[in-house]
Amino acid sequence: MMLDRLLHGPRVYLAPLTSRDLPTMAQWYQDSGFLRLFDADPAYPRAESELTEWLDKARRGGDSYAFGIRLIDRNELIGLIELDEISWSNGVCGLAIAIGERGYWRKGYGQEAARLALGFAFGELNLHRVQATILGYNERSIRMFERLGFRREGTFREFLHRDGQRHDMHLYGLLRPEWEARPPEAPDGQAH
Ligand SMILES: CC(C)(COP(=O)(O)OP(=O)(O)OC[C@H]1O[C@@H](n2cnc3c(N)ncnc32)[C@H](O)[C@@H]1OP(=O)(O)O)[C@@H](O)C(=O)NCCC(=O)NCCS
Repeated sequence: MMLDRLLHGPRVYLAPLTSRDLPTMAQWYQDSGFLRLFDADPAYPRAESELTEWLDKARRGGDSYAFGIRLIDRNELIGLIELDEISWSNGVCGLAIAIGERGYWRKGYGQEAARLALGFAFGELNLHRVQATILGYNERSIRMFERLGFRREGTFREFLHRDGQRHDMHLYGLLRPEWEARPPEAPDGQAH
């Protein structure tokens, strides 16, 4: 029997995060370069207990869904992706993504994982809009989101104050009809 495996792409799959994943995730939160790209919060190392709290909340469902990004061939955890701050009445959620292992950046894994999460957001959760905020200097992330069809909808000018300098933060959004009108993916999952 052919199985259409849930949340599996050609090279990565989205898996539930468990307490066994926490030590790996805690390591990512020790990397200040990573943290300075990930979000606008102060970069500080997270204790496993803080990550446990975050994970418990995400697992309860409610207003967020978090997944681990795993390589299919090695079953290795390389990142995480979260649909967060879901507004069920409006059909809106945020998308946060991180490939925690730097050696796996720029190989198309982020894009593949984001496509799986977007398929889940629009196809399973029936949401209408997915949005993300991206720091102005995070050029790789901007390119990835634009390649996925997200549009820049506005800029929080000089939102971020980091290392003595102010930086913009952009708001990106993708609507269900835009997602549905996306060009077909290449057979290897690379839609560049
Ligand atoms: C941003 C992030 C999630 C993107 O994931 P990624 O896997 O590195 O991104 P992708 O590989 O899908 O795409 C990025 C680049 O890889 C290139 N690429 C994609 N597939 C490729 C392949 N098979 N071989 C070589 N390069 C490839 C893309 O062209 C793109 O290149 P560019 O940046 O020069 O345009 C990841 O880099 C990351 O976690 N960064 C730190 C945290 C972060 O910034 N999170 C996002 C916050 S908004």
